[in-house]
Order: sequence, then C-alpha cells, then structure tokens
Amino acid sequence: MKNFGLDIWSNNNFIIQNGEVKLNYKSQPSILTITQEIREKDVRGPMLFRFPHLIKKQIETLYSYFDKAIDINKYEGSFNAVFPLKVNQFPNVIEAVTSQGAKFNYGLEAGSKAELILAMSQTPNGANITVNGFKDKEMITLGFIAAQSGHKITITIEGLGELKTIIEVAKESNLKIPNIGIRVRLHSVGSGIWAKSGGMDAKFGLTSTEMIEAITMLQNAELTQSLTMIHFHIGSQMSDIAPLKRALREAGNIYAELKNMGATALRSINIGGGLAVEYDQHVRATSRNYSIDEFSSSVVFLLGEIMNAKNVAHPDIFTESGRYIVASHAVLITPVLELFTQDYHEKLLKFKEQNPPLLEELIYLYKQISEKNCIEYLHDALDHMESLLTLFDLGYIDLQDRSNAEILVHNIIKKSLYLTSAYTTDELQELQASLQERYLINASIFQSLPDYWGLKQHFPVMPLHNLDKKAIRAASIWDITCDSDGEIGFDSEKPLFLHDVDLENEEYFLGFFNVGAYQETLGMNHNLFTHPNEYTINIDEKGYSISNAVESKNILDILESIGYEKEIILKKLKNDLSNSHFIAEKEKNATLAKLETFLHQNGYLRTTN
Ligand SMILES: Cc1ncc(COP(=O)(O)O)c(C=O)c1O
Repeated sequence: MKNFGLDIWSNNNFIIQNGEVKLNYKSQPSILTITQEIREKDVRGPMLFRFPHLIKKQIETLYSYFDKAIDINKYEGSFNAVFPLKVNQFPNVIEAVTSQGAKFNYGLEAGSKAELILAMSQTPNGANITVNGFKDKEMITLGFIAAQSGHKITITIEGLGELKTIIEVAKESNLKIPNIGIRVRLHSVGSGIWAKSGGMDAKFGLTSTEMIEAITMLQNAELTQSLTMIHFHIGSQMSDIAPLKRALREAGNIYAELKNMGATALRSINIGGGLAVEYDQHVRATSRNYSIDEFSSSVVFLLGEIMNAKNVAHPDIFTESGRYIVASHAVLITPVLELFTQDYHEKLLKFKEQNPPLLEELIYLYKQISEKNCIEYLHDALDHMESLLTLFDLGYIDLQDRSNAEILVHNIIKKSLYLTSAYTTDELQELQASLQERYLINASIFQSLPDYWGLKQHFPVMPLHNLDKKAIRAASIWDITCDSDGEIGFDSEKPLFLHDVDLENEEYFLGFFNVGAYQETLGMNHNLFTHPNEYTINIDEKGYSISNAVESKNILDILESIGYEKEIILKKLKNDLSNSHFIAEKEKNATLAKLETFLHQNGYLRTTN
C-alpha cells in the first residue's frame, strides 16, 4: 500500500511532505505540528480535529456539479440541498455547514423532534427544512409551527397515518400548513451495507396503492396544493450507481403519474442521500464505482428524460447527502501508548559466558545477516529455533537460553523483512503476518469508530509522521477499552503496516481519517470513555488557528450524565480518605488534592504518550 492509500481515499485533501501528513490547503500545515501545539497545553488522549474548509469544499463541489449538469442538460428545474442532521449534529459542524452553505441556501434535514428543533433554530432564513422519519402529532405540530415561523419546511409522510394527522392538525389549528412530501416505497434496492433503506420491504414509504389513497385524502381535505415533493432514499454509502438509476426511473415515473392524477402542486423530487465516500486504502477494494460527476449527470439527465417523455415540467431536485459533505472534515488523532512485541527488544538479551552451540549460531546469524544472505539466514534461524525448542522440551537448555533464542529469531525475521522490503514472497508475507505488532492506541473504537465495531466499516489510518521511513510491521490496533472487540485486527486482504518505533524515546501518532459522518453521535460511552477533545482548525495563507476547543467530559461529569450525583460521589471518596487509617495525617491533604485532580480529568490515559 503506497503512502497508506492517500491517492485512493484522500481526495487531494492531504499530502505527504518531509515525512509528515499535511493539509493540502493554503499554508499546508502538518497535522503533527497542530497535534504537538495542543499537547503542549498538557492535553493527553485522543483528539478530534475539524477542518471546516473541507466542508466548504464538499458543499461547493456538490452544487457546482449539479449546476453544471443542469446547464449541460438544459434542465429546467433547480437544484436544492439539505444537510441531514443525523449525520453529525455537533454544534461546530452545523456552524460550518450553515455558514459555508448560506450562499447556496443550503438547508437542514431533521429525522426526530430534537433534530427538528435544531433545524428550526439553525437553518438560515430562506433555506429549506425537510422532515423525515416517524412522526407523532406533536412532531407534526412542530412542523406547522416552523412553517408559521417563516421556514420553508416540507414534512415527508412515511405512512397514511401521518397524513391523517397532518389533516387533523390543519383542521384544528390556524397555523400555516407546511409543504407535504410523500416518501415512496420503491422496488429498486440500493447497494452496499446500508442498502436496506430501499426496496418493497423497507421500513419507510408508501406503496402505489397508498399513494393513490393519499391523493384522495388530500383532495378531500382540500390540501392538494400542499403536496409538493416526492422523496426516496435507497441507502447510505451506495457502492454502485446502477440501483440509483433504476430508482430514479421508478421515482420519476411515479412523480409524473401523480402529477397527471391531479397532484398539480408537485414540484420537486428529493433523492435522499447515499452519495458514497471513499474509505478504502487499498486499490483492490474501492468503495464506489462512480464519481460526483457521473452521479449528478445521471440524476439530472434521467429526470429530464422521463419528464420530457411524459410531457411534465422538470421538477426541482433535492438531495440530502450527508456523509459526502462531512465525512472528510474530521480526523481522529490517537497517540500510540505501547507496542507489545517490544518484549523482544534486543536489550533484553542476557547471554551467558557459555551459550549452547545453536544459540551461538543464532548470534552469528543475527550479526552477519545482510541483503545478500538474508533468506538463507532466515531459513537457518527458523530451523535452529525448532531445534532449540525441542532441546528445551527435553531439558537440555534453560528458560534464559530459550528467551535469548526467541528474541534473536524475532529480530532476525524483522531484519530480513527490512532487507527484503523492496520485494516480497508468500513465505515472507506469512512471516510478516505472524510477527504482527500490536499498537495500543489511547482511544476507544466504540466511542470514535463505532461503524468499525458494528459493521467492520474500514476507516483510512496512517501515522502522522515517519513517512520517509519504511513501515513494515504488520499492525493490529488495540484500543484501551476493557473489551476484546476494541481491536482492529491485521487483515491480510487489507494489510496495514506501521513503523517500528521505540516509544521510550519517541512519540508515535496515528490519524484515522474520514470520521466526520455518523461516528460522533453513534459513538458509545463503553467503559465510560466519552467524545474526545475536539478542535476546529482554520487554515489560511499564513498558517492556522485553533478554535472552538471542546474538552472531553471529565470523570465526574461522565458519571453524572448516567444518573449519579457527583457531589455524593465526591463526598464519599473524600470521607473514606479522611477517615482512613492507612494514610499518614500529613499526607491526607496532598492525596485529597490528587484525587480531586483525577476526578476532574477525562477518562483517557495520561501517560507521556
Ligand atoms: C432519509 C435520509 N436522507 C439522507 C440520509 C443521508 O444519507 P448519506 O449520509 O448517505 O448521504 C439518510 C441516511 O441514511 C436518510 O435516511
């Protein structure tokens, strides 16, 4: 994997220069420099960096490709987009989305009451709000209140019951009636691990029969003029464009049919989200088979073609792409705390005055191994190891001899891997995998990469530095949760190789990229690890600035958030210590102060790394 697959997943957002990953934007700061600046303020543990310029880039790209497709295809409808709040509701993300999107009238999509309140409070004037998901009367009334407050809001119904409630609220109140959308249940199914949002057995949407019923209900309630949109969403992270094309044909024809049946106010088709992000680091496994160019042209061309054939005016197009907009903006930085095979460090060798002859042989091989002889010496070493283990079992060598042999062979394999890193053989690859290094990161996979834990969704990972050195250690990544699922194991299909570092003398940081979509609110507090410290990094021609620092919850706050009273906890701990007979009176105050400090820090580890 050359350069950790940067040319596959990074969309030119990052570059490698002088051995470090840098932002490929304006002054091109190094992520390591930013990391170190923050750590100088005694910050430890994982950190999440937000780069708002990457949100801006994605919004501008989305609009410019759709505008281009509209132009080329002489399409007569407009392009509109809303950001689905479920993808990332964090304030510093929404601030970036709404401020960068203001010039396009970029709006927000809500899927719950809380998200609707957020949308009502954050959507810029004049931008659209769409509402999806199951709704009760209260949520529908909130939609009416939003319309009354001046928002351009469309409530999409997921079933006839919701339409009944809308009609009820319209009759009972004098509030302004919001636009109504219908989510259609398509027989087209998406592709990828989130494909089940589409298809006839999908959780959401109206069947053909229900749509016809909905038109009648609206006509009877004299609300036909409020039905403005049809909506579909065939699943997030669509890997293949073909199902989208089928869905567009189906939805386009439904739109034209409904219009011809009397839904005269219909004027838009909302194609949901699904635009995929490249997460793969290996060419063999790219995540999607289309570009934003093909995506936007297909949508515009197909809808135009269907409407022309049915003699229906071109609808306005809405998208709700979320992952595409924010995935790239966030990078998780994790310090590496430990490498577990450091147990095989050569400084642990303890030779005797007289070593067994085979061990002497290993010492010779270790000292003399070179590019020319390494395969032969490697085979000899493996052979000697077998014999030494047999000698140990028979009682001819002792534990110290065995330990020396293991360390030597481990280091001979390591040396031969370095010496042969320009070429590789099946045997070497197997050895590499068996010699895996475990990198312990100061982070929680459950909190920061929940889709890896739940769905094995791969996220690009690479060291922030040392990139001018060869990385040949087959790597598994362990997190600090007390759970064996908190591991990203070495996968020979998608191998990750990291550097051999001596953590006693140097720091080593890994960056997990494209973590800006879904991970933050899906992240769970397993073992009570909470959202890491976050920072917004604004970059200009002269350098960068760090703002909007939000600290990870401290231990007392975490406990309070699940229902404990922090004052009671604090009091109990202090009382126990004050009354303890195990501590000298004069040390009590210092220990109490230490305890207070710990309780006001977050739960991540605070070792020097
Ligand atoms: C209705 C709807 N719109 C938009 C989205 C956002 O999808 P994505 O993040 O893949 O663009 C989703 C997510 O599943 C959704 O359910």
